[in-house]
Amino acid sequence: MAREKKMPKLAAALIRGGQSAPQQQPVNQQKAAPPSQPQQGSTGPAASGGAGVPPLLLQKGYDVLGVIGEGTFGRVYLARHGSYPGRFLALKHMKPLLKEYEGVCATGLREVMLLKALQHPNIISLISMHMHVQDLSLCLAFPYAETDLYEVIKYHRERGSAMLHHVFKSAMYQLLAGVAYLHENWVLHRDLKPSNILLEQGRLKIADFGLARSVRQPLEPLWNNGVVVTIWYRAPELLLDARHYTGAIDVWAVGCIMGELMQLRPLFQGEERKGSQDVFQDSQLHKIFAALGQPETQSPWPDVVHLRHWRDDTGGCRQRNPEHGSLNLKQHLWENSPLLRSFPKPDPVLDLLLSMLSLDPGTRITAAKALQHEWFRQEPLPSPDSVFAGQHGRQAPAYPQRAMRPY
Ligand SMILES: Nc1ncnc2c1ncn2[C@@H]1O[C@H](COP(=O)(O)OP(=O)(O)OP(=O)(O)O)[C@@H](O)[C@H]1O
Ligand SMILES: [Mg+2]
Repeated sequence: MAREKKMPKLAAALIRGGQSAPQQQPVNQQKAAPPSQPQQGSTGPAASGGAGVPPLLLQKGYDVLGVIGEGTFGRVYLARHGSYPGRFLALKHMKPLLKEYEGVCATGLREVMLLKALQHPNIISLISMHMHVQDLSLCLAFPYAETDLYEVIKYHRERGSAMLHHVFKSAMYQLLAGVAYLHENWVLHRDLKPSNILLEQGRLKIADFGLARSVRQPLEPLWNNGVVVTIWYRAPELLLDARHYTGAIDVWAVGCIMGELMQLRPLFQGEERKGSQDVFQDSQLHKIFAALGQPETQSPWPDVVHLRHWRDDTGGCRQRNPEHGSLNLKQHLWENSPLLRSFPKPDPVLDLLLSMLSLDPGTRITAAKALQHEWFRQEPLPSPDSVFAGQHGRQAPAYPQRAMRPY
């Protein structure tokens, strides 16, 4: 996926601005066990300043314990710091862009600017930020989150066990609450997917704001921002090359995540075609139309005719899936989701899912409206605090802590 480029003025401003102040974390009901310490010696020579740990982290006094994540821009480390006793931190270290004149990683700077402005229980909080003036790398310090939805899905898939009803519902509620907050504040996330949705002490946190963007002028075309959203979670209007798009693209991704939590594998798992930004992703679109129907017939979307790829490239999809419809998705989930079959009333949950997966972004439910959906008013009620709260006597699953490896 194309990520973005340079922002030298902003970089200079941030260097002058220095670190952001520490923020207090909300106290959650479910206290996470501390991550297990790495085996003796497994951290290599880094504790004494050896290779493996970026100099910036050592310079700033972090005690780095290991690597817990690998991203597009660098690594995520587990660490402690004397200023935050008793807390584990996740340090997202972002390397500078390759060419010297391009400077600091603009994605990291955008992430910092947005996270400093956003404060919500379901949005990851930025504890501090550092920049290395020599090598121009960036380090963003976050509270350590014990797991994420990618790991939760993997855990259940490997055991052949469905998620618990109330955990699923609370996770969906908290995810929608975070997205509704972003959209109320004119921020589009543009990369919602299970690995970017963390659980920190049982509370869901939307993370990874590298592709996020604040849309101060709602009519401004966003197309020139490059490709956004990982392909399996990418909305049909993006796949059809829409020049304008809205928060509806995030809601589509939430719908895909909801379906994935239900069936424990991605809902629309197309094959990505590599190439330029406007390459037509026919496989992904076929999967969507096959499950939900055609925009001209079964799932009305009048404006689709204005989208370039629809006009020029979709002949194949139209012919291949002439008779499919949303019944397909319902039927498919009924057969593949033990979680869905466990609901005393499956219709409300399917109704919410399908309203997030409306092909027409204009009729797709908003995150704010989705929070009012009748499913969230039925028992078990969702918890806004921890996804493990309100279990009605049932044992919460002991999701394993994130794996950590030496650096
Ligand atoms: N606060 C955190 N606590 C624990 N692990 C984290 C935390 N933040 C990120 N991670 C882990 O590191 C991974 C990469 O982080 P992040 O998504 O922010 O980086 P990225 O470079 O934008 O990655 P990508 O492009 O692959 O999405 C996450 O998927 C997650 O597994
Ligand atoms: Mg990520």
